Amino acid sequence: MAPSSSTLKLLLTFLASYALVAYAGNFYQDFDVTWGDGRGKILNNGGLLTLSLDRASGSGFQSKNEFLFGKIDMQLKLVPGNSAGTVTAYYLSSKGSTWDEIDFEFLGNLSGDPYILHTNIFTQGKGNREQQFYLWFDPTANFHTYSVLWNPKVIMTSFNFALTCYFAAHFSFSVDGTPIRKFKNSESIGIPFPKKQPMRLYSSLWNADDWATRGGLVKTDWSQAPFTASYRNFNAKACLWSSGTSSCSSKSTSSTTSNNNTWLKEDLDTTSQARLKWVQKNYMIYNYCTDTKRFPQGFPPECAIANAS
Ligand SMILES: *[C@@H]1O[C@H](CO)[C@@H](O)[C@H](O)[C@H]1NC(C)=O
Ligand SMILES: *[C@@H]1O[C@H](CO)[C@@H](O)[C@H](O)[C@H]1NC(C)=O
Repeated sequence: MAPSSSTLKLLLTFLASYALVAYAGNFYQDFDVTWGDGRGKILNNGGLLTLSLDRASGSGFQSKNEFLFGKIDMQLKLVPGNSAGTVTAYYLSSKGSTWDEIDFEFLGNLSGDPYILHTNIFTQGKGNREQQFYLWFDPTANFHTYSVLWNPKVIMTSFNFALTCYFAAHFSFSVDGTPIRKFKNSESIGIPFPKKQPMRLYSSLWNADDWATRGGLVKTDWSQAPFTASYRNFNAKACLWSSGTSSCSSKSTSSTTSNNNTWLKEDLDTTSQARLKWVQKNYMIYNYCTDTKRFPQGFPPECAIANAS
């Protein structure tokens, strides 16, 4: 007999509350609101964080910990309605002039027009590796999980490193995660790979109406302010970095370190490879690796490797 809809509802409610417990990160414990003069707020006993933007200022936060490799998930619900001109940046970055960085930037839009997810990867201070996507859902209607998998991986007999940014849909955890982009180790052809500098997680909400929406044509409508983005369910399986050593090289455990380090070897399986192709075919709207105008002399060398699987 098929379960009645009320039984289903009960089951879903149970699963949802179970998920919250299993994934309950605490923003007080894991993050500091670093700027915005009260516009960044930690709520619900540390279960929710909101950033807001008005004409005077945006706001931002950063993780207390630094990571050297990790599988990092956060659920975001982006600025709803007319969000044109706003940018919600969510990224990992190291420090110094030869920094590494893994970027997600969500470019707002007029009500009903699609957000752009702008991504970039910096190694040793060099970026210029933009890829942009439309999303296959409305990122303002619900929370969705945005994840970065950054791991060292042994492939065959040589050392290889894989870096993957992927999505998991709301409530389906990383099991159903849809990868959107993969950056392989191309050190063999002289492209540095982020593997030595620990990174912190940052997020900010700010005004970028000089370039964000339709290349800057659509300005922020301040009558809609304050603009608000929300965050919850931070979950990191990561090697924590402290005083020059990584927790993965010792036996130490902490609230954000899991003993189960399978993520360290994780790579895309066949299903994920197919999902990645699906996203690239249907939702990618810009890829630096195919921008002939920008690279008339030939594409950056990693582009040849990026498309070989
Ligand atoms: C905003 O909507 C327009 C029209 O659909 C689209 O061309 C553009 O890519 C969208 N996103 C941004 C950030 O401009
Ligand atoms: C470790 O985690 C993976 C998925 O992240 C899971 O499939 C596996 O069963 C776990 N192993 C242990 C020993 O818990």
